[in-house]
Amino acid sequence: MRVAVYPGSFDPLTNGHLDIIRRGTHLFDRIVVAVLENEGKSPLFSVAERMELIHRCIAGMPGVEVHSFTGLLVDFMMRMNANVVVRGIRAVSDYEYELQMALMNRELNPGVETIFMLPAVEFTYVSSRLVKEVFRLGGDVARLVPPPVLESLRARLPVAVGSR
Ligand code: PNS
Repeated sequence: MRVAVYPGSFDPLTNGHLDIIRRGTHLFDRIVVAVLENEGKSPLFSVAERMELIHRCIAGMPGVEVHSFTGLLVDFMMRMNANVVVRGIRAVSDYEYELQMALMNRELNPGVETIFMLPAVEFTYVSSRLVKEVFRLGGDVARLVPPPVLESLRARLPVAVGSR
């Protein structure tokens, strides 16, 4: 059984994340999307809301489940019987941060391997942070997030500029 954990903040899930999950379903029997419980980041959506949104977006995808976790990722992975971490890399600028995390996780548990995956080219500039910023300022993010996320953004954030 090939089990991977795809960890992140997912505040909120973007089409880039969803693309990585979809690609992962071709490689793994089980993919655990793991939402970090880290209120320190002042998220827009609560962990429960993020999990609910992910659930709605992965409907019908085989072998994908959604969990939240606190503490060390490697400890959570042991609880999930997983030894592969999946992370999406968009540009070279992501690499340094990802390299540090992957090597730290390896230091903590040498049995854990990190696999970097590339999203579809059209999502290489998409991040949750930019999606929120653009949406807040009245920009159109309909092509960048799944429909349930767009709905929730509309419900959560007031329109600043433009017609959206
Ligand atoms: O989407 P993000 O915010 O870039 O995801 C970061 C995440 C959740 C993968 C990372 O912060 C994490 O794994 N946190 C858990 C704490 C941990 O294990 N830290 C030590 C290894 S870097």
